[in-house]
Amino acid sequence: MKRILTYGTFDLLHEGHINILRRAKALGDYLIIGLSKDEFNAIKGKKAYYSYEARKNLLEALRYVDLVIPENNWEQKVDDVKKYEVDTFVMGDDWVGKFDFLQEYCEVVYLPRTEGISTTKIKDDLKLKIDNLL
Ligand code: CTP
Repeated sequence: MKRILTYGTFDLLHEGHINILRRAKALGDYLIIGLSKDEFNAIKGKKAYYSYEARKNLLEALRYVDLVIPENNWEQKVDDVKKYEVDTFVMGDDWVGKFDFLQEYCEVVYLPRTEGISTTKIKDDLKLKIDNLL
C-alpha cells in the first residue's frame, strides 16, 4: 500500500484541483489531503469562500481522495508523514523546492500546475462579471 500526502486549501474546487488529485492518487494507492483550516488560512492571509467543513465534505466525495486531515500550521508535515506512514509527498510546482526537507522522510514530488485556472482567478473573474452588471 503506497500512501500519498498533499496539502492545500482547495476552495471553490476546480479542474486544476481535480487534475492534481488524480495525478497524485495515480502515484500510489491511498491519498491523504492535509486541508488548510480556516484559522491557518487567516495566518497565511487567505480567506476561503467555503468553510473547512464544506471543503472537506466536497473533497471526501471525490473518488481519488481516501482521507482528509486538518492542516493547522507549517510545522506539522514531518509529524504527518511519520504518523500516516507516507511514502510520497506531492505538491504543485508553484511550491518547487520548498518541501525538499521532507526527502529525509519520504519521496517528494512536484507536479505541474494546470494552466489558466486558480481559485483566485475564479474569484476575480466572477467579481469582474458582477461589476460589469452593476
Ligand atoms: N493546483 C494545480 N493547478 C492549478 C491550481 C492549483 O495543480 N491550476 C494545485 C496547487 O499547486 C496545490 C493544490 O492544487 O498543490 C491546492 O492548491 P490551492 O492553493 O488550494 O489552489 P489555487 O487554485 O492555487 O488557490 P489560490 O488561487 O487561492 O492560491
